Amino acid sequence: MGRYLVTGVAGFIASKVAEILLTEGQTVVGVDNLNNAYDVRLKHWRLDRISNHSGMQFFRLDVCNRKALHELLAEQATRWGAFDAVINLAARAGVRQSLADPWGYLDTNTTGTLNLLELCREFGIPKFVQASSSSLYGKGGVMPYQEDADTDRPLSPYAASKKAAEALCYTYNHLYHVDITIFRYFTVYGPAGRPDMIPFRLVQWISEGWPVRIYGDGQQSRDFTYVDDVARGTIAGLKRVGCEIINLGSDRPVVLLDAVRLVERLVGQRAQLQFSPTHAADVRITWADISRARERLGWRPSIDFEAGVGELVTWYQENRSWAREIETGDL
Ligand code: UGA
Repeated sequence: MGRYLVTGVAGFIASKVAEILLTEGQTVVGVDNLNNAYDVRLKHWRLDRISNHSGMQFFRLDVCNRKALHELLAEQATRWGAFDAVINLAARAGVRQSLADPWGYLDTNTTGTLNLLELCREFGIPKFVQASSSSLYGKGGVMPYQEDADTDRPLSPYAASKKAAEALCYTYNHLYHVDITIFRYFTVYGPAGRPDMIPFRLVQWISEGWPVRIYGDGQQSRDFTYVDDVARGTIAGLKRVGCEIINLGSDRPVVLLDAVRLVERLVGQRAQLQFSPTHAADVRITWADISRARERLGWRPSIDFEAGVGELVTWYQENRSWAREIETGDL
């Protein structure tokens, strides 16, 4: 059985990764700063589901805080030896929101990653798993996107911060032989998902009869990927791969207005659409080539968009008393 440091453990993807690891009987040391990038009730809801596992330890800690991280890792190393891996899922994650605070994004996503890579080197942790993003594909080229496509022109500070984190991963693999899997996740959604993202918003806004703000003409598409599939893939990425970038997507892009129609049908209400100009940081289409994940990790997605949105709608209905109060933000 392994011991894993999971960062951003109260986050959407990380809490699910931790839950699966704990269910397998592994040990998880989870850190999260519980910031207010979005309603912290969601983070507590996710933490509550994992905190009663005997293999779980939680520390409220920011990956930007080098000193506190070092103390934690030093103490853990003395008591238990090196972690088997660091799974770095702590991030500031809003594409459009990153324009308002680019420094915060660089601090957490880039310097935070550097802090953890350094600790892998110092404490002899052999494996690092890094969260990256489909938004690196920018204006795109040949579709579906393959991992070795050009990602030199990120459209947002968020994407740029993740690109820089990927570069640091390469450097630490090259210099210190930390084995690294970098995942480019494609618009992850599901129960207790992020309220700044469109799946949560559509379910909340349509359920409550509130206006549905659409950027652009609604013809943009996303390769939405269900959170359980993504978490399973992330854990499969704990094996040794050298240094590899791997897409985790569905290979089934969905046009935004079709997602609206689906939620209308599942919720049983019509959406009131309000169109706003396209946001300059938005990519038009995401579509993952997932052959590498299949070949290297034996991974494939198992939950299609209709089933996954169904799970989100059920979760919303079960948690509506507080989920309806969650602010979805202005961007
Ligand atoms: C999402 C996540 O926010 C990122 O953390 C992640 O890295 C990225 O996916 C990814 O795939 O890698 P984004 O695609 O911007 O980024 O996700 P949403 O915020 O859900 O937006 C999806 C689409 O819906 C965009 O075209 C956006 O303009 C549109 N949208 C979003 C609206 O029309 N209205 C809204 O209120 C929100």
